[in-house]
Amino acid sequence: MAKQLLAFAALPILAGCTTVATQAPPPAGHAATDIPAHVVPVERAQPAWAAPDPEMDRTIDELMARMTIEDKVGQLTLLTSDWESTGPTMRDTYRQDIRAGRVGAIFNAYTAGYTRELQRLAVEETRLGIPLLFGYDVIHGHRTIFPISLGEAASWDLAAIEKAARVSAQEASAEGLHWTFSPMVDIARDARWGRVSEGAGEDVYLGAQIARARVRGYQGHDLGATDTILATAKHFAAYGAAQAGRDYHTVDISERTLRDVYLPPFKAAVDEGVASFMTAFNEYDGIPASGSRYLLTDVLRGQWGFDGFVVTDYTSINEMVPHGYSADLAQAGEQALDAGVDMDMQGAVFMDHLAQSVSDGTIEMAAVDRAVRRILEMKYRLGLFADPYRYADEAREQETLYRPDFLEAARDVARRSMVLLKNEDDTLPLAANTGLVALIGPLGDSKPDMIGSWAAAGDREARPVTLLEGMRANAPEGVRIEQVAGASYRFEDEGSTEGFAEALALARRSDVIVAAMGERWDMTGEAASRTSLDLPGNQQALLEQLVATGKPVILVMLSGRPNSITWADENVAAILHAWYPGTMGGHAVADVLFGAYNPSGRLPITFPRTVGQVPIHYDMKNTGRPIELGEPGAKYVSRYLDTPNDPLYRFGYGLSYSSFGYSPVTLSAPSMGAGGSITASATITNTGDVAGEEVVQLYVRDLVGSVTRPVQELKGFEKIALQPGESRTVRFTLKPEDLAFTRADMSHGWEPGEFRLWIAPSSGAEAATPVTFTLTE
Ligand code: NOJ
Repeated sequence: MAKQLLAFAALPILAGCTTVATQAPPPAGHAATDIPAHVVPVERAQPAWAAPDPEMDRTIDELMARMTIEDKVGQLTLLTSDWESTGPTMRDTYRQDIRAGRVGAIFNAYTAGYTRELQRLAVEETRLGIPLLFGYDVIHGHRTIFPISLGEAASWDLAAIEKAARVSAQEASAEGLHWTFSPMVDIARDARWGRVSEGAGEDVYLGAQIARARVRGYQGHDLGATDTILATAKHFAAYGAAQAGRDYHTVDISERTLRDVYLPPFKAAVDEGVASFMTAFNEYDGIPASGSRYLLTDVLRGQWGFDGFVVTDYTSINEMVPHGYSADLAQAGEQALDAGVDMDMQGAVFMDHLAQSVSDGTIEMAAVDRAVRRILEMKYRLGLFADPYRYADEAREQETLYRPDFLEAARDVARRSMVLLKNEDDTLPLAANTGLVALIGPLGDSKPDMIGSWAAAGDREARPVTLLEGMRANAPEGVRIEQVAGASYRFEDEGSTEGFAEALALARRSDVIVAAMGERWDMTGEAASRTSLDLPGNQQALLEQLVATGKPVILVMLSGRPNSITWADENVAAILHAWYPGTMGGHAVADVLFGAYNPSGRLPITFPRTVGQVPIHYDMKNTGRPIELGEPGAKYVSRYLDTPNDPLYRFGYGLSYSSFGYSPVTLSAPSMGAGGSITASATITNTGDVAGEEVVQLYVRDLVGSVTRPVQELKGFEKIALQPGESRTVRFTLKPEDLAFTRADMSHGWEPGEFRLWIAPSSGAEAATPVTFTLTE
């Protein structure tokens, strides 16, 4: 991939944009000239698919010369079919709209047969015969469902994550799809927000790496190959910062936080060649994202050089009216197009108003043409002008869906995603001579819950392997599993004890209890925010009674968010967080419980003790009164009266059936300057007696900056497999650019000074002994 450097070197990153007013002035007493000049230039990536193509230009020029304004607006319109509803409005006229040339793209329609049928309407029954683009929310698998995205992220295994996206693309493209609305690369730091389940968690560095892996997996090396699909980086931008974790709520964050926390995974997606972007529902700095010229044009195209097209989220142009930003839909459409939107998802605002806006002169035809060209170019690059039906191939569909190797990959990724949070006295893995396992809880034998939300065309009823099925299929000879639900996760069942007696009777007869608890599959995902992170329904009450039986209790959590399971942590013997593990989830859970797989997942998001600690993330600031300054319980330090400051489980945390020792860190040099680098290494040894995988994590702390810096930042990680007794030296190389941030004058660069660095099994400096190095002029 060719890279160019954009000469922003001496300029603040905002140069040339229309919202310069948001640029922060230097702090009092600090002239901008005090700030060293180590600016890191913005790299602009040109993906292979964006290479100049004169033949394409000629074809599109000719076509556009024949298009009326109505034809053009049609290309900017994306409508849902009636197969599925993923938003508040439906339009039952999409087939007529296609025939009338009023639609350029369709979502929520798949299968080779149905996409072929709709494509035929566009190609054979419209005047210009322009092929449709078919999109869909293929988020963590298409038919074969992998763990929810947050679960995949917990694997910290980029090859596994890429593989999941690759399989998704193979299945989706075999069903006529060209385009997925994934990856969601929103940083999510508020467990109340239901959409934490859809992203890669709270961290900027991990999030950026995962964004790249997913784009690679979907798009492959060749966008025009019929087994790859266009990826979409969404939701641009800062959607994860919704106030109070309430979905669609207002976002109010600083420009610095936007740039340092929320934007980097989007930039990483651009660098990996992502073909499309989706706007967010929220506002940023008072402007709805779908109307933000700053985000969609100045940053995305101007600074980053994005070459693909921008689609809105579902009716988000229309929503600029209730936001109070647009007086009416016509104005909203003009503002969105002008800001840089190319395609209107489901709102029909462009469809109903854009032609009039052009004839009124409130929007220029050139703006419409620019967007139309971007859409047509992508259709051309997919090969749809050469053969509109090339993805709709029934024979390939037959051979591809639920391929055995795909199911095997889903099982493997699922077990890699699971995080062992507690394992007192080596309760897990279960001994081969365990007699009777009591599997209790609403998630023990529930097919619909296994695949979580946004499970695309995944079958919820028959295919998913439940915990009961998986455990029965994989239990060692002689181990028996009996199951009852016992409790309910429905909010309205809190207080009920229905089913408890039966569950307790089974528990008392058993040797060990596996409590399969958590949330119903649709309690996370879109429009699924909560104010409590507790186990919903009457699960907690049953859990307490199960523990009171005196039998060892293993809690297997199925959930799409961090739950506050502080009581469980103190009282049960073992906890495995299994997310929603997908089609093969039951087998994967069994692999971990019975020791066929040694758990290797690590948390990509902090688990708070209680919802009152939210927002809580590992890379917070120190404050002027850090708790360590006072005696335990001291007043006038930054703390709570009723809860410790630290979380229940840290970012990066997870146990193994093995144990790992870390040597002290060595640095290749005590300092580095411009153009230099430093290598930090540590030797990791498997000190246990089973083979295992460890996620070795590199953290740094920038001690003093022109603005305050986080107490720790992840700057590298590597997942390694070690046999018992085996050692491996892991090396991380850092350059000054890796330590860049948005400085006091809003330029992006690094600053000379002292840094602390440590290599550890999780976040938290106390897990390791830090070394220091200096960044020189
Ligand atoms: C709304 C969601 O926010 C978005 O993520 C999704 O891709 C669209 N609906 C389409 O279903």
